[in-house]
Amino acid sequence: MHNLKFFSGENVPLEMHKVRMVQKINLLPIEKRLQSISEAGFNTFLLKNLDIFLDMLTDSGVNAMSEMQYAAMLQADDSYAGSETYYRLEKVLADIFGMKYFLPAHQGRACEHIFSQVMVKPGTHALTNYHFTTTKAHIARMGGIVEEIILDEAFNIQSSHPFKGDIDINKLNEAIKKHGKDKICFVRIEAGTNLIGGQPVSMKNMREVSRICRKENIKLIFDASLLTDNLYFNKIREPEFKDTDIKNITREIGSLMDMIYFSSRKLGAARGGGILTSDEDLFIKMRELVPLFEGFLTYGGMSVREMEAMAVGLQESLDMDVISQTPIFVEALCNELVERGIPVVTPPGGLGCHLDAKQFCDHLPQTDYPSGALATAIFIASGIRGMERGTISEARNDDGSEHLANMELVRLAFPKRVFTLSQVKYVVDRVTWLYKHRSLIGGLEFVEEPKVLRFFLGRLKPKGDWPQNLVKQFRKDFGDSL
Ligand SMILES: Cc1ncc(COP(=O)(O)O)c(C=O)c1O
Repeated sequence: MHNLKFFSGENVPLEMHKVRMVQKINLLPIEKRLQSISEAGFNTFLLKNLDIFLDMLTDSGVNAMSEMQYAAMLQADDSYAGSETYYRLEKVLADIFGMKYFLPAHQGRACEHIFSQVMVKPGTHALTNYHFTTTKAHIARMGGIVEEIILDEAFNIQSSHPFKGDIDINKLNEAIKKHGKDKICFVRIEAGTNLIGGQPVSMKNMREVSRICRKENIKLIFDASLLTDNLYFNKIREPEFKDTDIKNITREIGSLMDMIYFSSRKLGAARGGGILTSDEDLFIKMRELVPLFEGFLTYGGMSVREMEAMAVGLQESLDMDVISQTPIFVEALCNELVERGIPVVTPPGGLGCHLDAKQFCDHLPQTDYPSGALATAIFIASGIRGMERGTISEARNDDGSEHLANMELVRLAFPKRVFTLSQVKYVVDRVTWLYKHRSLIGGLEFVEEPKVLRFFLGRLKPKGDWPQNLVKQFRKDFGDSL
């Protein structure tokens, strides 16, 4: 039983590691922060790292690695074909998930590219608890239609539902009846559902979805990129797992799925990705594409050093002291913000603290991109880089009209084992100040809008001179302080 969540029964997360290597960060004066976000087209993706104080954009590829991961990198076997490193990694994955075959790929979206190419036929439906940006883009590229069948409760921002990432079983049955099983390319469960606030999926739900898919002969895919947060919640929020080893929970998930894929920039705290399956036919079809798009089968576009780090990182992902770190820090930040009346997604999930920009900026219509505006305002006020997860992250409809997002969120991600408690307190302090002056935040509009995944490279401008007004208010309240 894991009981080291918080110490003294207070809301203080306890770090179960010590820091042995550091990176210096800069806190620029607010005028420079405004200049920096202006040069970045008011898109936090385009900021330069040197201008950022706390980088809470993502946990992708920026997690702290352990000493054992670095040590393992030294033994990497750098051969083009048949590398020992590959076989070590293959063995670890087989042991964790119990699946027969492993295909390496350079990151999560490369896996999505490969399986979408093999499994998605034009006009077929991909049913999922909730889409992820790159997943949807790859399915759509092959002519597939993504259909979300998540619980309605998922869109209830302030909720006490422990598993808002669950698939709605009625919606699943209805979709099968409506489309017919031959028109469904697969059902996809995303662990730790990214775009709705890092909300987990229960084992109870995975079992039921798997039972239905097997009965109907529909393939079930599991996106394990955010698996570790999900495992933590399975253990903490599903009473039957209170005394179960994390490895046994993971094994059971493996037994329910036809295919598992992951971004190892997240899972395993390294860089890379992979696909696992026990389905020989699927494996053979996907295998052909790996040398074509990724690299030879024993490295798949990854550096062997990263593969060694991944093998160790995956094994460390079975340790509650390791995987509890992100959720307990997310919870601590969310609780502090909730206490101050600031709207965040609850219950706290994995991945990061998610601010509800619709409530935070309730004076802005969705067409003014409140999530993008709030992410900009947070950077100006604090040097903290968050990520827009709202309408800017959606693609336009075919007729060119805006596709308004179900939720307007700003994610303040916690790279695993990177930030300290005083840095969390800084986040609370600056977000609280901004909330007090939220009426100063104005809208954004595109000046350069890419057709695909526009949130990555799109450039915007503020509607009016609200960023300058924010700076003036800051100077009034904080004087010369940074
Ligand atoms: C749930 C999920 N799936 C897939 C991906 C894509 O992985 P990658 O960024 O390695 O391409 C991500 C990345 O953030 C993710 O969070």
